[in-house]
Amino acid sequence: MSGAYWMSRTLLSAAELGVFAALASGPLQIDELRERLGLHQRAARDFLDALVALGLLDRNNDRYHNTAETDLYLDPDKPSYLGGMLEFHSTVMYSPWASLTEALRTGKNQAGHKNEEEMFGNVYADPGQLSALVTAMTAYSAGSATALAHTFPWDGYQTFCDLGTAQGMVPVQLALRHPHLSGIGFDLPAVGPIFEKFIADHELSSRVTFAGGDFFKDPLPPAQVYVLGHVLHDWGMDAKRALLQRVYDALPGGGGVIVYEMLIDVRTKMGWHVRWPLYLVVGGGLAIGVASLSYGLIELPFLKLKRKFQ
Ligand SMILES: C[S@@+](CC[C@H](N)C(=O)[O-])C[C@H]1O[C@@H](n2cnc3c(N)ncnc32)[C@H](O)[C@@H]1O
Repeated sequence: MSGAYWMSRTLLSAAELGVFAALASGPLQIDELRERLGLHQRAARDFLDALVALGLLDRNNDRYHNTAETDLYLDPDKPSYLGGMLEFHSTVMYSPWASLTEALRTGKNQAGHKNEEEMFGNVYADPGQLSALVTAMTAYSAGSATALAHTFPWDGYQTFCDLGTAQGMVPVQLALRHPHLSGIGFDLPAVGPIFEKFIADHELSSRVTFAGGDFFKDPLPPAQVYVLGHVLHDWGMDAKRALLQRVYDALPGGGGVIVYEMLIDVRTKMGWHVRWPLYLVVGGGLAIGVASLSYGLIELPFLKLKRKFQ
């Protein structure tokens, strides 16, 4: 475990250098690939062979090629691209995680934000970090968005609003699966152009639109169903409650609220449940435990939670 970061750093550097994009159109011989990536001769073969050993590339004599998985998920020109998460880890999270010990001693996030509001402001002031974070959310929410489109009884509703929508994976999945639905992705104004391009790429602009604003201050767009996906964890307990209260106030009769989150459940032994709260200590925010979800956080009368453990 002590050297696990060697593996993740190798993957992140491969994505940063454009290895998977370079091999997307077919196998390349080592010297050709080395030149395309701008790698030093001393490092190239060992680096590329490390990617082979990690199962991220295949090699045939001196020719390297993407595996079926890296071709599907890490070719930036494919709609199935999930590499935004790698860009996010490389550009936003990697350095702060080197100071985990400091975060544990001081309780301060290591990304240099004074508070949660500043967290998004700082990241979004840099176009590279904005794009990395917003597209990372696409990878991060793809599974939940698909599940939501399949499991919620959407037949009874016509409109939705996805609060903190990022690139818009939830609106895309809902609108693709349910042609009768139209919806709004709500997020900070800086996210608008990236959202709108993603929606246009999926030919959904006639049914899915963007509304820019601050969900703590601005009026929430009207909708029958509000979705809050991976949003509550970014905020302290008072802000989580204030946001839920605003959603409640905006709800029409018979409307619905859907919250999906990464929850801490100490009964599980899954690595994610260990790393996730620490990620928030380092980056900013406050993780939600299964227990606090039931008994502490969501004490507003309108939420009757049905919890389902897999
Ligand atoms: C962790 S991301 C979650 C994205 C997506 N819903 C998902 O499931 O992955 C949080 C989102 O909330 C947005 N956000 C943060 N502060 C906001 C605010 N005050 N008003 C509106 N959106 C905000 C961020 O821009 C970001 O897209």
